[in-house]
Amino acid sequence: MNKKPIDREGPSRPASGCFKIVIGADHGGWELKEAIKPLLAELGHQIEDVGTGNEASVDYPDFGMAVASAVSQGKADRGILVCGTGIGMSIVANKQPGIRAALCHDLYTTRLSREHNDANILVLGGRVLGKGLALEMVTVWLETEFLGGRHARRLEKIREWEERLCG
Ligand code: RB5
Repeated sequence: MNKKPIDREGPSRPASGCFKIVIGADHGGWELKEAIKPLLAELGHQIEDVGTGNEASVDYPDFGMAVASAVSQGKADRGILVCGTGIGMSIVANKQPGIRAALCHDLYTTRLSREHNDANILVLGGRVLGKGLALEMVTVWLETEFLGGRHARRLEKIREWEERLCG
């Protein structure tokens, strides 16, 4: 499980400034996923793509679980998931311990998902968002730090509930 403390006030990025990012999508999101990968590379991040790689129909839980497990187990710093609406992927990802997956629709929800919720997975709807906006959202999400303080207290309550329910 991802044991990273959430009561920090400081930056949550590695000293290098670059993240290991695991990315996944179903057939409703693969096209946007392919557009996001060059941006991540350009920003200097390390990418692991768990698929899917084409429009053939697949089941989003397979890819959502792969990404969420990698982040939950600390094998990746952050995750990005894309399906048609983003809804299925966010339901799946949030089943994993330590995952705070945020389904974002615009720059405001994207920024707040980091500042208030310390989201470690960004979820996007490939059939909902334009490519230009989606790429800007990814950039903002990766550059925005968690604010800590009262927000850390709230995340700590979520973590405690998770521990009580899941052990
Ligand atoms: C696939 O048709 C679609 O259901 C999926 O991409 C996603 O939107 C589920 O929430």
